[in-house]
Amino acid sequence: MFKHALLAAVLLAWAAPSPAEYGDVVINNYSDAAGMRPVIFPHWFHRVRFRCKVCHADLGFQFKAGGNQINMLKIIDGQFCGACHNGELAWSVENCNLCHSGKPRTPTHVHESTLTKLEAAAPARKP
Ligand code: HEC
Ligand code: HEC
Ligand code: HEC
Repeated sequence: MFKHALLAAVLLAWAAPSPAEYGDVVINNYSDAAGMRPVIFPHWFHRVRFRCKVCHADLGFQFKAGGNQINMLKIIDGQFCGACHNGELAWSVENCNLCHSGKPRTPTHVHESTLTKLEAAAPARKP
């Protein structure tokens, strides 16, 4: 019995998704410059509700923090976040602060992802 429980625990740990999937993505290509707080996209919160394909294929989100040119015109037009945050599938764009909730001047990055840690360990790699 005990052996089986231990094995199960090890397998569970093995199957846990990589930290990048849990991370929040801070998106700040334009926000600071426009006087808005940076956007925080809670990736895990969304990932448990939708398949990767919905966002990364159907909605065209690039697999890269900050890799999409997102602005409010596009969102109101139903692109990117606006495909869902339209007051039907999810609360709508009036709730500025729910998305623009980052600390001012936080650069675009994935919070607590493997990539972030690697970059911190090897700062010379940064452009
Ligand atoms: C569903 C999430 C969401 C909501 C709600 C939202 N935004 Fe944004 N907004 C974004 C994202 C994502 C970006 C791109 C961020 C970046 O790259 O800096 C953005 C960018 C912006 C920008 C800079 C680009 C541009 O379009 O000029 C401004 C200004 C802005 N938002 C204002 C607002 C205001 C004002 C509200 C409320 C009326 C609002 N946003 C609500 C997600 C949201
Ligand atoms: C609700 C939409 C949504 C879903 C579902 C989703 N993602 Fe994402 N993903 C995003 C957004 C938005 C970003 C950040 C893009 C940006 O900053 O412009 C992102 C970023 C990423 C990144 C880049 C992180 C980095 O280090 O730069 C990876 C990798 C990723 N997603 C993988 C996945 C995988 C794998 C799944 C399914 C298990 C998934 N995503 C599901 C919206 C989604
Ligand atoms: C595929 C649909 C979809 C897309 C695309 C999407 N969201 Fe969401 N989002 C949701 C749903 C559904 C909820 C839950 C709404 C609720 O609880 O009423 C949510 C909730 C949130 C929350 C609140 C999380 C919490 O802890 O309560 C934030 C913040 C958010 N979204 C930001 C964004 C931003 C920023 C983008 C674009 C980069 C985005 N979302 C794109 C569907 C989406």
